[in-house]
Amino acid sequence: MKEKDELLRQKLELSGQGGGKARIEKHHKGGKLTAHERLNILLDPDSFEEIGALVTHRTKDFGMEKQVYYGDGVVTGYGRINDRLVYVFAQDFTVFGGSLSETHAEKICKVMDLAMKTGAPLIGLNDSGGARIQEGVRSLGGYADIFYRNVLASGVIPQISAIMGPCAGGAVYSPAMTDFTVMVEGTSYMFVTGPNVVKTVTNEEVTFEELGGAHTHATKSGVTHLTADDDVDCLKKIRNLVGYMPQNCEETTPRIQYEIKEEFRDQLASVIPDSAQKPYDMKEIIKGVADDNSFMEIHPEYADNIIVGFARLAGRSIGIVGNQPLSLAGVLDVASSKKGARFVRFCDCFNIPLLVLVDVPGFLPGTDQEWNAIITNGAKLLYAFSEATVPRVTLITRKAYGGAYDVMNSKHIGADMNFAWPSAEIAVMGAKGASEIIFKKEINEAADPIAKLKEKEDEYAEKFANPYSAAERGFIDEVIFPRETRRKLIKAFSMLQNKVAHLPKKKHGNIPL
Ligand code: HXC
Repeated sequence: MKEKDELLRQKLELSGQGGGKARIEKHHKGGKLTAHERLNILLDPDSFEEIGALVTHRTKDFGMEKQVYYGDGVVTGYGRINDRLVYVFAQDFTVFGGSLSETHAEKICKVMDLAMKTGAPLIGLNDSGGARIQEGVRSLGGYADIFYRNVLASGVIPQISAIMGPCAGGAVYSPAMTDFTVMVEGTSYMFVTGPNVVKTVTNEEVTFEELGGAHTHATKSGVTHLTADDDVDCLKKIRNLVGYMPQNCEETTPRIQYEIKEEFRDQLASVIPDSAQKPYDMKEIIKGVADDNSFMEIHPEYADNIIVGFARLAGRSIGIVGNQPLSLAGVLDVASSKKGARFVRFCDCFNIPLLVLVDVPGFLPGTDQEWNAIITNGAKLLYAFSEATVPRVTLITRKAYGGAYDVMNSKHIGADMNFAWPSAEIAVMGAKGASEIIFKKEINEAADPIAKLKEKEDEYAEKFANPYSAAERGFIDEVIFPRETRRKLIKAFSMLQNKVAHLPKKKHGNIPL
C-alpha cells in the first residue's frame, strides 16, 4: 500500500515531466512548453482529466529497465474547449524525445477509442523523435494501431493535429490523415526522410526548416493548414477552429445566439471594379456577407487563388469556398482544386453548409498543369461538390467560365440555391476569345479586322456576359443586388437547414485520388 502511495506521489510530481528539471529547462529554452503546460492552454481551466499517468514502458532491452518514467512520454486524457468535450494526447519530448513506444501508442489508442465511442473531437499535440528505437517492431506496430484508428475515425469525429516539435518518418502519416494540421513556426518540422538521408540519396543540401518547417508546408506542400507564431498561438488557433465544428458526424454545427436585424451591406455594391479585367479581393465579399470577425481562413498561404475557411452566418457555422481574383485571376489549377476538394469533403463529413463564391475565368492552361494532372485534380473538386449532401449555396459575383462554371457548385451538380449579381458573366469563355474562334472567318475577311472583332465581342458579351440567360433557364435561381446578399444568404441557409439528401446506395465512391 505504502508503495502505491509513493507511486501516486511520484505520478503527481513527475507525470509529463519525466525527463526532470534540466530537460524541461532545455525544452523551455528552445521556445517550447511542456505537455502539461500546453494542455492547460488548450483546454478550459481545470477541465483536464488525465488517463494513464502511471503507465510505464515494458522494454528491458538496452538498459531501459533502469530508466522508467511515469506516463511514458505522452500525456493523454480528456477536457473541454468552450465547455465542449474533447480528447487529447500531448507527446512529452522530455521523456525519450517523446518517442513512441508500445505503451505510449496504447495510451493514444485508448483516448482515440473513447473519442469514437462518445463522439467527440480528438486533438493530438505531436512532439516526438518518432519510433522508440529501443523497441523496434513493437513501436512500428504502435504507429500502425494509431494510423488504423485515424482512418476509422475519419468522417466520424473531427481530428486535429498540432505539430509542436519534430514529426518525422512514418510518424507524419497520423497527422496527414487527420482533418487539420497546425505547425508552430521555428520549432516544428515534418518530413518522411530528413536532411541527412536526402543528402545521401539525392545529394541535395537542405536544412530541417527548408525541408519541412512550418513555412515550407504552409506555402509549398500544403501539408499544414495553418501555422502559428508559437505554442500559445497554436493552441489558441485550435480552440478557435474547434468552435466551428460539430462534435461528430451526427450532430449539426454549433450555433451562437444571433438576432436577425436589418442585414443590408452597402459596401458590397462597390467591390466589383468597372473593368472585368481588374482584380478585387474576394475576402471583401466574405467580410460583407459573414458575421463580423467570424471568418477563419484555412490554408491561407497555399494555392491562394482559391479561398477556403469557416465563418458564421447569423450565428451558424458555414464553410466558404471562393475563387480569389487577386491571385492568378482566380483560375482553378492543380493546387487550388486539391485544396478546395479537401475542404468541401471536410464540411460535408460534418454537416457544415457550404457557401461558394464564384469568379473564375477557367482552368489554368500549360504543360505544367496538364503533366501534373489537372484533369484528375480538377475532377477532385468536381467530385467533392457533386457528392456533398450538405446545404449548398452559390453566388456568382463576376466570371463563371467554361468547365469551371460547372465545377464551382453549379445547379447542375446539385447546388440548392444559386444566386448571381448583375455583374455575373456566365459563358463558355470570355467574349474576346469566343469571338476570335466563332467569328474567325468573318473577322479575317473584314476590311477592318480589329473593328470587326470589337463588334463581335460586344455582340457575344451582350448575349452572355450577364446572368440573365442562365436565370431564364433556372440555372440561376435569382439575380440579386450586392447590398442584399447577406440577407438573401441568411434566408437561403435557414430555408435549407433541414435538408435531407442521400447518395445512391454504395460501399463508397471512387474519388479520383
Ligand atoms: C528513442 C529517442 C528517439 C527515438 C530521440 N530520443 N529520438 N529515444 N527513440 N526515436 C532521445 C535521445 O536519445 C535523447 O535522449 C532525447 O530523446 C532527446 O533527443 P536529442 O537528440 O538530444 O534531441 P534533439 O537534439 O532536439 O534532436 C531531436 C531529433 C533527434 C532530431 C528528433 O533526437 C533524432 O534524430 N532522433 C531520432 C529520430 C529518428 O530517426 N526516429 C525514428 C524515425 S523512423 P537523452 O537521454 O540523450 O537525452 C520512425 C518510423 C515510424 O519514426 C514508423 C511509422 C510507420
